[in-house]
Amino acid sequence: MDKTISPARAIAGMITLPGDKSISHRYAMLGAIAGGTTAISNYSTGADCQSTLGAVAALGVPVERTNGVVKIQGGALRAPAKDLDAGNSGSTIRMLSGILAGQPFDSRIGGDESLSRRPMQRIMTPLGQMGASIEARDGKFPPLQIHGRALHGIDYTLPVPSAQVKSCILLAGLFAKGDTIVREPVRTRDHTEIALKEFGAELEIDRRVIALREGALLEGRELFVPGDLSSATFFLVAALLVPEANLVIHGVGLNPTRSALLDFLVAMGAQIKVIDVQQTSGELVGDLRIRSSKISGGVIEGAMAAALIDEIPALAVLGAASENGLTVRDAAELRVKETDRIATLEKNFRRMGVSIESAPDGFHLAGKQKFHAAEIDPEGDHRIAMAFSVAALAADGDCVIHGAEAADVSFPEFFSTLHQITA
Ligand code: S3P
Repeated sequence: MDKTISPARAIAGMITLPGDKSISHRYAMLGAIAGGTTAISNYSTGADCQSTLGAVAALGVPVERTNGVVKIQGGALRAPAKDLDAGNSGSTIRMLSGILAGQPFDSRIGGDESLSRRPMQRIMTPLGQMGASIEARDGKFPPLQIHGRALHGIDYTLPVPSAQVKSCILLAGLFAKGDTIVREPVRTRDHTEIALKEFGAELEIDRRVIALREGALLEGRELFVPGDLSSATFFLVAALLVPEANLVIHGVGLNPTRSALLDFLVAMGAQIKVIDVQQTSGELVGDLRIRSSKISGGVIEGAMAAALIDEIPALAVLGAASENGLTVRDAAELRVKETDRIATLEKNFRRMGVSIESAPDGFHLAGKQKFHAAEIDPEGDHRIAMAFSVAALAADGDCVIHGAEAADVSFPEFFSTLHQITA
């Protein structure tokens, strides 16, 4: 599907966003293995989280979805009749593999072409140390053939900062004999730790060391998923790109392991107000008000690169329009996302006449660049499709986003919401 985006002068209105993708995956997986009913309100509408529900259902778990509420009757999983399909979702395959590794049956899990190129050794190594037996295509890519085994806890230091890997190990730990300890080089999103506690697991957290006690008995819960801050990023950037903006985003997740985005934008000069912060199911949620601001530019590196990894495509667009530009370092992980995001950013910026210097672990964009009307190819990557749709608002003519349906992976309502605030 092609989408034509016209330049915009103003962004205004009040919007709410679908539930956070990361949190939705975790609630669905934990609901599937917890005893009793789990009811999840504001579950993500994206295809990725639907892949998790599909996989859970294929494991014999009754799943019902009505009026934005997902109901899951959890309990023991059953051997799937066919291959499990994670679609485009790295979170589904990596986190669910932790659960599958501890089951008394074999399973196979794979996904689409993009997912089939994403590295899986990062979960195969720790799961192997826990006693799991997993075969992968060429030893490292999906599909994964998982032979369920009795697992034992490990004490594991993550070689790459990854919340998916941390979560995979903790989920496997639920089926392991002995305690499971994960040590993080830098802090990554902690939704799994929060959700595990909500479901009744015993967890001790000492800064970047997480210890899960053996023998957790999880109980089904009623949960609410806050709006997705990573999806909000596109509208925050849109508001900062156009000449006039006054936008409220209602009910957004503000977990401190995700909200580095807001600190970074404020440090660059963004006028963002956080209003009415509350806690729901252990997660912080609040409203954001953003007004037009002068954006200076900045550097993303070190722990910040890990904390902002999903937001970098949108921040790159803002960086090119900012006063002093944007430099990104220590972000080689961008190369193994849904696409090689350094390459897809580079190709699409060039199409818009924006110059970018790339490096193996990042890129540099000079500031005050002009965006020219262009045809954009997101190569099936949802965040690239949405980032360049926002760039198009500041272009000197209409842009066409080819394969715009890529946005459906995390945010099917993206284009209608963008239309609502620019109309
Ligand atoms: C996620 C963790 C991050 C992020 C992804 C979602 C999660 O991936 O990029 O979109 O929900 O745990 P990594 O664990 O590969 O860093």
